Amino acid sequence: LESAKCALKKKFNGKNVVVIDVLRATTVMVTALENGASCIYPFKEIDEAKEKWRAKKDGFLAGERRGLKIEGFKFGNSPLEFTKEAVQGKEIFMTTSNGTRAIENALSADNLYIACYLNISAISEKLLESEKDVVILCAGTDDEFSLDDSLCAGMIIKKMSEKIKLEINDLGLSLKKIADLTSDIKEILSESKHYSYLKSIGYENDLEYCTTVDAFSITPFYKNGKIKLPLK
Ligand code: MLT
Repeated sequence: LESAKCALKKKFNGKNVVVIDVLRATTVMVTALENGASCIYPFKEIDEAKEKWRAKKDGFLAGERRGLKIEGFKFGNSPLEFTKEAVQGKEIFMTTSNGTRAIENALSADNLYIACYLNISAISEKLLESEKDVVILCAGTDDEFSLDDSLCAGMIIKKMSEKIKLEINDLGLSLKKIADLTSDIKEILSESKHYSYLKSIGYENDLEYCTTVDAFSITPFYKNGKIKLPLK
């Protein structure tokens, strides 16, 4: 298990990496793809996203800074905006403060998956299909550990360890133990930093949605600049 800060210096060749930013970037990605978006292009910088979107002349820009929609973008980073009507068949050019940056830090992975509470079981099953080592990369908030991502990581480890005996590092083990003791995700996260911030700027409904477990069974992955779904 890695935090985004440590990941900057790491290479993940030979490994399957799962990127988590439950509040809210990876929840948005999973939601948009579940609702029929054709793909998501993640970018670290706002200008890069704008430039690529202009060159494509298709789809739309989405993303946030400090949790709020970026000027000139169609959508912010609330998963509730990414409805079927809004995204079906569309390409999304996305930049967020931590989530899209974490993806960029993980590009050396053999396979790079996108997870959040909404697809814990599906991702766990997908990871168990392979013999490769797994790195769970929590985006965190402003390069700091965040409980929202870490608890989700713990729940993935818990799910996987119900099926096979895992060798886990101590950070992973600690998070699995927290997951073992957790029955109410929102209660556990209620005093955490980014959860409290999003609440303070009026995104209570997002918090309810982002902490919903296993609503979907998709396993989005990153390849050649795009996040998309495996072919059925
Ligand atoms: C991020 O990538 O930092 C987050 O998704 C921020 C947010 O809550 O919108």
